[in-house]
Amino acid sequence: MALNDIVLNKELHILVTGGAGFIGSNLCETLLENGNKVTCLDNFSTGKKENIEPLLSNGNFSLIEGDIRDLETCEKACQGVDYILHQAALGSVPRSIKDPITSNMVNVSGFLNMLVASKNAGVKRFIYAASSSTYGDSKQMPKIEEVIGKPLSPYAITKYVNELYADVFSKTYGIETIGLRYFNVFGKRQDPNGAYAAVIPKFVMQLMKHESPTINGDGSFSRDFTYIENVVEMNLRAIVTTNTEAVNTVYNVAFGERTDLNQLIGLLKKNLAKYDPSIAEIEPNYGPNRLGDVPHSLASIDKAKEKLGYAPKYDISKGLEKAVDWYWGNLKN
Ligand SMILES: NC(=O)c1ccc[n+]([C@@H]2O[C@H](COP(=O)([O-])OP(=O)(O)OC[C@H]3O[C@@H](n4cnc5c(N)ncnc54)[C@H](O)[C@@H]3O)[C@@H](O)[C@H]2O)c1
Repeated sequence: MALNDIVLNKELHILVTGGAGFIGSNLCETLLENGNKVTCLDNFSTGKKENIEPLLSNGNFSLIEGDIRDLETCEKACQGVDYILHQAALGSVPRSIKDPITSNMVNVSGFLNMLVASKNAGVKRFIYAASSSTYGDSKQMPKIEEVIGKPLSPYAITKYVNELYADVFSKTYGIETIGLRYFNVFGKRQDPNGAYAAVIPKFVMQLMKHESPTINGDGSFSRDFTYIENVVEMNLRAIVTTNTEAVNTVYNVAFGERTDLNQLIGLLKKNLAKYDPSIAEIEPNYGPNRLGDVPHSLASIDKAKEKLGYAPKYDISKGLEKAVDWYWGNLKN
């Protein structure tokens, strides 16, 4: 992405954990384009080699294949690093319901290892992927950072615990942290396959194959779908900020609009019909609601705008156009 008004010092060395995943690989790519030195730590549990294949020949890029559940690996990855963008985790609410222990080991113990390692290495700032799932059963709309509900899944607990640890580490050890509560991110390289695939890439692949997507529930559940470039922008802003009041806190990362699943299918069909008009005729199926899903999610992005100068450039329509274009160009057939 073009950095626009964000001036990021090229001399900085940045560690991206989970750098072979969807969000991590987009972060690595942008940082390398800016001329930064980037280390990627990933165990390829859900990330893929092909996501970082084009980066491997860049002299500023180094890959550590390893697991954040191992403290020594985390310590090694933090050596000489200025900033950390911690993305490594096991995503997905249903995955955490099926196997809460592994989600907890990676998302909580692994997170704690990374915090300890970054403290020991004297890293300047620890910026981490938090989650909108932390709002849990809160009915408040839009969601503002200071008002959360009770978690609705093991995954949501792990992401909330991350925030608690980050807060305690900043108070106890004086390290700087920023948590970014991502809201349903989508865009290029998001994995469309597997039982825990996110809704947008899953629906795109099904529609491309002329299959009817299945909506969980009646399609009225809504999300603040957030295009990847807005997420990259927030990570960069979290690195460059010198506002002392902007650190040791959490931010919503979203566009600030919600789209229900029926509308989403409509937008996807419209975009895909540009390539194959018959896709416009495909109708979705409707199934039961999914355990642990919150009905509606909409973020206030006022805090991010005010404290970090966040100015998201992609609404869902603009983002979907780019995402669908990528899936059609890269994954059709
Ligand atoms: N995608 C979203 O909508 C969304 C929403 C909220 C929060 N998040 C958070 O953003 C982060 C990135 O998510 P993503 O969508 O890119 O998922 P992803 O699965 O594509 O990426 C996660 C990466 O972490 C790596 N990883 C997992 N366990 C690891 C371990 N033990 N050691 C080292 N690496 C490990 C995976 O191999 C993968 O490359 C995660 O922390 C996720 O919880 C994502």
